[in-house]
Amino acid sequence: MEKLIKAAMQARLKSYAPYSGFNVGAAVLTADGRIFTGCNIENAAFSPTVCAERVAVFSAVAAGCREFSAIAVAGGKTGEELDFAYPCGVCRQVLNEFCNKNFKIIVVKSETEYKEHTLAELLPHGFEGNIL
Ligand code: THU
Repeated sequence: MEKLIKAAMQARLKSYAPYSGFNVGAAVLTADGRIFTGCNIENAAFSPTVCAERVAVFSAVAAGCREFSAIAVAGGKTGEELDFAYPCGVCRQVLNEFCNKNFKIIVVKSETEYKEHTLAELLPHGFEGNIL
C-alpha cells in the first residue's frame, strides 16, 4: 500500500483548488495492479468542481479498467500538513458502481499514518443499479 499512498500524495501536488484551499490527491489500484491517479479540480462556478477520487476512477474507466481493489486519498489545506480526508458521499456512490464491498479505502495523514476502511463500512446501503 506504500506505493499507492505515495501516488496519492504525489497526485495531490497537481490539485487545482484556488477556491477552497483544500488540496486532495487520490490513487486507485486496479485488479491487475495498475495505478491511476487524480486530484481535485475546482471551477469558478463551483458546481463543476470534481473530487480527486472521481478523477482517478474515471480516468481508469476511460482507460478500460473497471475492476479495482483499493484507493488511497490524501487531503489537506494548502501549505499545511495532511489531515484524514474521507471521500464525499458522491464519490462513495461512484466507487460503489465499480467496486465490491471489500474494496479498501485508505485515508492518508502521512506515508506512515493512515486508516483503512472497506467500502461497505463507509457506504452502507449504497444505491445498487441492479434494482433498476
Ligand atoms: N474534495 C475531494 O477532492 N475529495 C473528497 O473526498 C472531499 C472533497 C475536494 C472538493 C473540493 O475541491 C475541495 O475538496 C473542498 O471540498
